[in-house]
Amino acid sequence: MAEPTTQSATPTTGEAGSPPPFRHRHLLGIADLDPVEITALLDYSERMVEVSRQPNKKRATLKGRTQINLFFENSTRTQASFELAGKRLSADVMNMAVKSSSISKGETLIDTAATLNAMQPDVIVIRHSAAGAVELLSQKVGCSVINAGDGAHEHPTQALLDALTIRRHKNRLNGLTVAICGDIANSRVARSNLILLGQMQARTRVIAPATMLPPGIELLATEVFTDMEEGLKGADVVMMLRIQNERAHGKLIPSVREYYQFYGLDEKKLALAAPDAIVMHPGPMNRGVEIDPLVADCPASVIEEQVEMGVAVRMAVMETLLSQGNQ
Ligand code: NCD
Repeated sequence: MAEPTTQSATPTTGEAGSPPPFRHRHLLGIADLDPVEITALLDYSERMVEVSRQPNKKRATLKGRTQINLFFENSTRTQASFELAGKRLSADVMNMAVKSSSISKGETLIDTAATLNAMQPDVIVIRHSAAGAVELLSQKVGCSVINAGDGAHEHPTQALLDALTIRRHKNRLNGLTVAICGDIANSRVARSNLILLGQMQARTRVIAPATMLPPGIELLATEVFTDMEEGLKGADVVMMLRIQNERAHGKLIPSVREYYQFYGLDEKKLALAAPDAIVMHPGPMNRGVEIDPLVADCPASVIEEQVEMGVAVRMAVMETLLSQGNQ
């Protein structure tokens, strides 16, 4: 297979250009994308970073289009990020408050989809606690659907924003060693990242206690570690994950203190990674559980930059899906 181009294209100043050609109507998972499509989305996201750093951040590209954010799970940052991305592109953005909607009155997912579809949206952004629910909904509506996280399955825009952040610091993805540490079994962020990084020829390591490793993980990750100190050695990127108590059936760890001792990222453990390693976290972060507050705020931490990249990636994805020719 030809080596995929993972270098970032130099963004042009001024005009942001037009989105790349794209053969998909929806963005349901990274598993549907090839390296060329991933690189094209990352390159276009770079343009959106530039747009977002200008005093006037408004683009007219989605003027007149309707975006519905349908979040069945609590979310602060992802929903805000999609809302801001849509507004920067001039879309009319509606947030569906699911808790106060008919869903809690017993309406099925499919009926909700049919109702929303009748309102003629152009894109529906969906987060749901069940893996596969977003794909099911995408089959019932006439517009584009973006998966904003479905159970422990996929969270594609998170993996894209993580890849963009890494590429901006390391200038490439191929050949890098990326260690993902924490509750791998219940994490859609880990899954989407492992798929993307594997596609882009990075070396992936997962680090977790055996109870937080899903069966078959060796098919997705290059290396699997239960010893964090071993797993961190020489890593270029250290990505920490929250314990997903809401998705775990039963208690995952005997005590927070013990977990922190063995799997919490502190300065001593971080010193085992490459000297120029960056520290990432998708948020929400639990300081003192998976990460030492000092590490979360240290110069190696790019956690706030991830949030900035999130808006840019979501702008790029929505423009790409809704641009003429891609629909
Ligand atoms: C992640 C998610 O929802 O999967 N967070 C996010 O998208 N901001 C990770 C998490 O909840 O721990």
